[in-house]
Amino acid sequence: MSTEHGTPQARSILQVGPLKPSLSQTLVAEYGASVLPDEPAARDAFLSARGSGVGVVVTSGRTGVDAALMAALPNLGAVVNFGVGYDTTDVDAAAARGIGVSNTPDVLTDCVADTAVGLVIDVMRQFSAADRYVRAGRWPIEGNYPLTRQVSNTRVGIIGLGRIGSAIALRLKAFGCTISYHNRRPVDGSSYAYVSSPTELAAGVDVLVVAAAGGAGTQRLVDANVIAALGANGFLVNIARGSVVDEVALVEALEAGRLAGAGLDVFADEPTVPEALSTMDNVVLLPHVASGTVETRTAMEELTLRNLNEFLSTGRLITPVPMPAVAPS
Ligand code: 8YV
Repeated sequence: MSTEHGTPQARSILQVGPLKPSLSQTLVAEYGASVLPDEPAARDAFLSARGSGVGVVVTSGRTGVDAALMAALPNLGAVVNFGVGYDTTDVDAAAARGIGVSNTPDVLTDCVADTAVGLVIDVMRQFSAADRYVRAGRWPIEGNYPLTRQVSNTRVGIIGLGRIGSAIALRLKAFGCTISYHNRRPVDGSSYAYVSSPTELAAGVDVLVVAAAGGAGTQRLVDANVIAALGANGFLVNIARGSVVDEVALVEALEAGRLAGAGLDVFADEPTVPEALSTMDNVVLLPHVASGTVETRTAMEELTLRNLNEFLSTGRLITPVPMPAVAPS
């Protein structure tokens, strides 16, 4: 076998962190994979006894592989990531060690974009809160539910006009919304208005949708200033990563009535959600379910296994993530 990464001998597969049960079962039954123990002493014992035999890690965006774990796996050739986001894997360390990293793009775009639109509608029209109102028996006693805000024809700003951001834009265009966006750079050929800063974007829209990749480059990109620019009539929706939004500033703005509402599928410290948010009817909280449909998770599982198979047979990956350039030593 020829490989581009790792050594031909280091062929064993290691699962790092929880995975979709069927994927985990396949890895054990068909690939003889081991699972990295969680408990620190057992983990250390595993790594010193078997770390050098590991050629591929299969993980998810929720766990990933940091530089310390890579160092404990000296013959690691690839990190195969279930999920489009791979901010939990240290790609700089991977590039320096010649380790390839793959993710699962495209197959989840539709579902995540659907979720973003669902959150926009839910937070503006308060469907979840109105549902609670009916279930609590308040309708016959308190009468009609208070008026909410219209979604169609509003101004929507998208932070991150990549695959998912573009799919969100396409859907909201069908609602008559005016779309503008902020990216590091304008997207070639895009008909949507480019705005060069998140604050300026937020100042000109009714809804700000966060669809940028997580990681060091986007850490708290949506900060207190952006939230202030969105203002007391503005809504924030985040289906990207909790790290992209300053969650403390977000909670403060909501508590003070300086933001109209928020629809959130992701949080800074999952699965912990700031307690203050759970009492607010103008906030919709989802437990990071954007890609969580039978169809999409099956497609993600298939693509994960295709990457693994390709790496095992050719040393290459089907959907590698862009790797940073390695500085000459
Ligand atoms: C998954 C996600 O829930 O793909 C991503 O980046 O955030 C979600 O689709 C997650 O990666 C599964 O671990």
